[in-house]
This record gives sequence, C-alpha cells and structure tokens, in this order.
Amino acid sequence: MNKQRLDKTICSQGMLSRKEAKELIRRGQVTVNGRVEKQADAAVDWDQDIVALSGAPLSLQQHVYLMLNKPAGVVSATEDAAQTTVVDLVPPQLRRKGLFPAGRLDKDTTGLVILTDDGEFAHNILSPKKHVQKEYLAQVDGKITLEIIEAFRAGVNVNNEYTTLPSRLTVEQSLPQGDIGRVVLREGMYHQIKRMFRSFGLTVTQLHRVSIGNLLLDEALLPGQCRPLTPQELEMVQQREEISFSQGAISPCERHFTL
Ligand code: URA
Repeated sequence: MNKQRLDKTICSQGMLSRKEAKELIRRGQVTVNGRVEKQADAAVDWDQDIVALSGAPLSLQQHVYLMLNKPAGVVSATEDAAQTTVVDLVPPQLRRKGLFPAGRLDKDTTGLVILTDDGEFAHNILSPKKHVQKEYLAQVDGKITLEIIEAFRAGVNVNNEYTTLPSRLTVEQSLPQGDIGRVVLREGMYHQIKRMFRSFGLTVTQLHRVSIGNLLLDEALLPGQCRPLTPQELEMVQQREEISFSQGAISPCERHFTL
C-alpha cells in the first residue's frame, strides 16, 4: 500500500504544479480507476489505482532517475546562486522536488551523471562497498607508463592522505600532447583521478565519465541534454562487477575530447 493525496500524486510526476493539478481535478479532468474524482485530497494507492489526466493514464513512479550528459562549466550541485548546476539543466517536465546528482563530477569534467530523488539508490551506487564501477577517459599531458598502470592497480597513495582502492588503467590512445587513459574506479574521492595522476607528475587536461555500473552514457544525448532511464537501464546501473571495461569503440575519445 503506497497512498498519497491525488493532487500531490499528480504534481509529484513533475509535469504540473500543485495549483495546476488542483485546477484539473476541479474541472473534472482527472479520473481514478475510470471514475471522475473531484476531491483533491482523495487518497490514491500508487500500487493499484490508475490515475488518468484527460483520459491519458499516468504511470506513477515514486522516484525519478535521469541520465545527463554533463557539459563542462556546470557544477554538480542542486543550487548555486552564481553558477549553472546540473539540476538547472533538467527540463521543467522532468523536474522533481529533491532532485540531486548521484555522485559529483568536477566543474570541468564531462559525461554521465545520474540525477535522482532516491537517496537509497544514490547510496547504493556511491558506496565503495557496493562495488559499482565508474569508468572515465582521461587526457593527460604526458606518457602513461607501466609504473603508473601498476600503481593504479595496487592503489595510489595520494599526498599521504589516503590510499585509493585498486583501479584499472589502460592506454586508449597516444597523442603528441599526451596519452588518453581509460580508468575504472569504484570509489569517488574528491578530484580522485586528477590527484592520482598528479602523484606521478601528470596533469589531467580533460576528463569524461563514460559509464556507471553497466550503464553507458547514451551517445545520442548532446552535452547538456538528459532523459529518464528505462527500467532495464536502472538495473544496469546497479550491476556490480569486478573491475572490467566496456568496449572502447563504444565511446571513442574524439567524441568527447578536443584532440
Ligand atoms: N576524478 C576527478 O578527478 N574528477 C572527477 O570529476 C571525477 C573523478
């Protein structure tokens, strides 16, 4: 049993304000299980009742999960008076109260961010104990050596502050300005990849997140665009694996980086 007021139920789906929902109800345009319901405070059971607006049934969802292709220059916060946030990029019809990024990317990092209002889900994909892997492409300003690859595998001591969990690093491409590495982590410490490379004297000049769990960023999403996850994709996010890689060909570097 998952009951809520009718007007709240309608506006929680993100398309209408509470006032607009009440107005539709008052005008008799809302049905519950096929019968017109004019009481805004009527109780609706999300698990059983069928609510329709002007004849179109709503698919009631308790939580929302959006995939965003984060552009550079946008902060991973819910609000910021001076800067554009990832939540600001969500179009009004997909907005919900309590939407936040499940995991932060630096302002200059691009790529996959999941926005949700489900705190438990966010915890499950962020906790290192849950082993959900996150995969990145990192352009650095020099050579990625075997020593660095081995150190990533063993765990990197960052400024004597912490030692990272074992991660995977491979060289994706070697360019005159430096190598592009593919990095798989299952934790997300502050500036982690930048600080790991910094420990070996390399600077990350561009960073792009390609995947979370088994969910790859939809290449059809332009930077700044977002869309809801399908139920299958939602499952893919939470799939745990021992660190492995998606196919490099799915996310070629030149799609994301200025080479
Ligand atoms: N590591 C970083 O250094 N920055 C990010 O945005 C993500 C991972």
